[in-house]
Amino acid sequence: MSTPAADALKVEGLSIAFGGVKAIQDLSFEVRAGTVHAIIGPNGAGKTTLINLVTGIYRPTAGRIALFGRDVGGMPPEKLARLGLSRTFQNLQVCMNMSAVDNVMIGAHMSLGTGLLRGMFRPPALRRVDAECRARAHALMDFVGVGADAKAQASQLSYGALKRLEIARALATSPRLLLMDEPAAGLNHTETAQIEVLIRRIAENGTTVVLVEHDMKLVMGVSDRILALHYGRRLALGGTAEVRNDPEVIAAYLGAEA
Ligand SMILES: Nc1ncnc2c1ncn2[C@@H]1O[C@H](COP(=O)(O)OP(=O)(O)O)[C@@H](O)[C@H]1O
Ligand SMILES: [Mg+2]
Repeated sequence: MSTPAADALKVEGLSIAFGGVKAIQDLSFEVRAGTVHAIIGPNGAGKTTLINLVTGIYRPTAGRIALFGRDVGGMPPEKLARLGLSRTFQNLQVCMNMSAVDNVMIGAHMSLGTGLLRGMFRPPALRRVDAECRARAHALMDFVGVGADAKAQASQLSYGALKRLEIARALATSPRLLLMDEPAAGLNHTETAQIEVLIRRIAENGTTVVLVEHDMKLVMGVSDRILALHYGRRLALGGTAEVRNDPEVIAAYLGAEA
C-alpha cells in the first residue's frame, strides 16, 4: 500500500550471495522520505551490492524491497527509474567522446546501469533533441556547478567536474530517491566540501538521498541517519552521533581509519 508517509526505501531480510560470498545477509533498514541517509562500511562490506540490489541490477536470493511504500522486488531498472529511482556510480560512467551536456541529456533516456548504451545508440531520440530537454540539461549543469563546461567534450573535464556531471545526469530523470555511490571518492577537501553543499541542496529540493561514502567528515556533516555495514550485515543504524559512538562501528571501521 502506498501512503504519503511511507518510507522512501524499506528493505527487509535482504540477502544475496556470489558463490560462497554472502555479500548481503538478512539486511533490514528503512530510509525516511526527505532525509539524507548514509551507508558506511569497510571495502567489501556490500555497499555497492546493496545499491545494485535496490536498483534492480541484482536479484536478491531473499528479502523484500519497497520504494515509497510499493513492493518493487524483481522490477527491472527501467521500471524502477520510472518510479523515481536514480543513481550515480562509484566508477565514473561518462561517455568521454560526447559533450558534457549530451551526457546529461542521456540521463533522461538512460535507465539504471543497463540502459546507457541503448540510450546512446538511439539516434532518432537524440536527434529529436528538443530545446526544452537541452535547456533542462544546462540548468542541471549550472545547479551542480559545471555549467561553464557544458559544451566541452567530457574527456576535457577534470575528475571533480566529471563526478558532478554524473550527479547532473542522475538528476535528469527528476528522481524522488537518488542513490550516490562514493560521490567524493578521489576528490580533495575543497571539492568534497562542495559535494556536501550540493547534496544538501538536492535534499532541500525534495529528493531523498542515499549516500555511500568513506569520507567521514562528509557523512557526518550531511547525513540525518547512518547504516553501518560489515560483511554484508547491519552493524548499526541510527543518527550520526549514535553510529559514530557505536563501539562495534568504531572497532570495525572508524577505528581502522583513525
Ligand atoms: N558481481 C559480483 N560477483 C561476485 N562477487 C561480487 C560481485 N559484486 C560484489 N561482489 C562481492 O561482494 C562483496 C561486497 O562487494 P561490494 O558491494 O562491492 O562492497 P563495497 O561497495 O562495500 O566495497 C565483495 O566480497 C565483492 O567481491
Ligand atoms: Mg563500493
